[in-house]
Amino acid sequence: MKNRTLVTALPFHLGQEVTIAGWLHNLRDMKNFGFAILRDRTGLAQVVLEAAHLEQLKGLQLETVIKVIGVVKEKKSKDPNAKEVEVQCVTLEILSPVTDPVPVEIAKPDIDVQLETLLDNRVVTLRHPKQRAIFRVQAALVHGYRAYMERQGFTEIFFPILAGAASEGGAEFFKVNYYDREATLTQSAQLYKQITMGVYEGVYGLSYSFRAEKFATSRHLTEFNQFEFEVGFVDGMGEVMDHAEAVIREQIATVERDCIEELKLLNVTLPPLGAQFPRVTLKEALQLYKDEGGIDETAEPDLSPAAERWLSTEWAPKAHGSGFVFVTSYPEAKAKFYTKPDHDHPGDMFNFDLIGFGSEIISGGLRVNRYDEQIQRIKDKGLNPADFEDYLMMHKYGIPPEGGFGMGLQRLTQNILSLSNIKEATIFPRDVQRLRP
Ligand code: 4AD
Ligand code: MG
Repeated sequence: MKNRTLVTALPFHLGQEVTIAGWLHNLRDMKNFGFAILRDRTGLAQVVLEAAHLEQLKGLQLETVIKVIGVVKEKKSKDPNAKEVEVQCVTLEILSPVTDPVPVEIAKPDIDVQLETLLDNRVVTLRHPKQRAIFRVQAALVHGYRAYMERQGFTEIFFPILAGAASEGGAEFFKVNYYDREATLTQSAQLYKQITMGVYEGVYGLSYSFRAEKFATSRHLTEFNQFEFEVGFVDGMGEVMDHAEAVIREQIATVERDCIEELKLLNVTLPPLGAQFPRVTLKEALQLYKDEGGIDETAEPDLSPAAERWLSTEWAPKAHGSGFVFVTSYPEAKAKFYTKPDHDHPGDMFNFDLIGFGSEIISGGLRVNRYDEQIQRIKDKGLNPADFEDYLMMHKYGIPPEGGFGMGLQRLTQNILSLSNIKEATIFPRDVQRLRP
């Protein structure tokens, strides 16, 4: 729209005539005059209407799309330092009339409905400033990720979603009809990012991952995005973890820089970062949970959700001033076929999770890069090397020592904003029940 002024720019136009456009967020009819709250993508503005304008809005509902030409004036406020502005309407144009009342009230500081109702009515509830803010923060996380990776000279790759075989093994994959065959939706870009190690040495991408999760939890989706990363010619796993830590620091710095208003609106304090994210082995983590958390899970091969929460929201902030903690050396039984065994510590693997302020946000590690060893690993896992022909071709023709990680975009958003359910951090979530909107 030509000559349109956005709401946040109004204070720079004091005394001038401007054109603003947006949604009728709220309306107060005082008979001879009224106050409309106009919402655009930058914020809310009060518009003072005359009786004739109120007449134009007769029979119309909130969310009607309007265009206002008016004069920017200082808003009378109880607080003389407030320096707020409002627009005195001269002409009002209805761009898109709404005649049905909105199904969920969004013209208040918080939407107070159940999560399922919020999501059933996503088309409207997404318009609420706080809902909007969540996905502005999410976008900033992506910008920070990309900025970091580009500075390293790494290459952004767009990975396929349709594949002929399961990418991570296991049973959590979706099958789709593909002409006269069956295809699967990729669980991760794992195999593809590794293949590109034969060319680019450092790659990243924001891919889609699909998991046929059997149960609804507050941390799992059936469709989510993964920041994929892979780097070649590494000296060890520490190098991969260094990238994970540095990229998260940049992502959070980007949110702090670009989402000042959003953070204020959401009233969140981002997790502390500390000087360095602590790095502990799984054994050490379980021992800490026993000794300091008082719960003995030392016989377990993994961290329970409660242990992850304790470690990242209680132990690490207190001991290291950080809401993030790397846990390394998960046992062989839990490791994927592509994970490199630590031959100096039989039974241990070169793998890690980054637990970020509540739960796992990253899994990563070093990969098997030698052909013979990879064939053996596949067999050891009870899989058939013949099913991995394309994948094994990269080992056969040489890939460097390499490693990488995958980080869930929605999981990261959920944890840094302390949202209780991952679906709040997903713009159009899919779960066991939900495929709409
Ligand atoms: O831990 P995952 O399954 O690891 C992989 O996919 C490996 N290929 C990564 C690698 O490079 N080695 O998934 C990685 C991340 C998790 O840490 C989590 O943040 C997120 O993806 N994630 C999910 N997010 C939402 N819903 C689910 N069902 C998720 N499963 C994993
Ligand atoms: Mg994992």
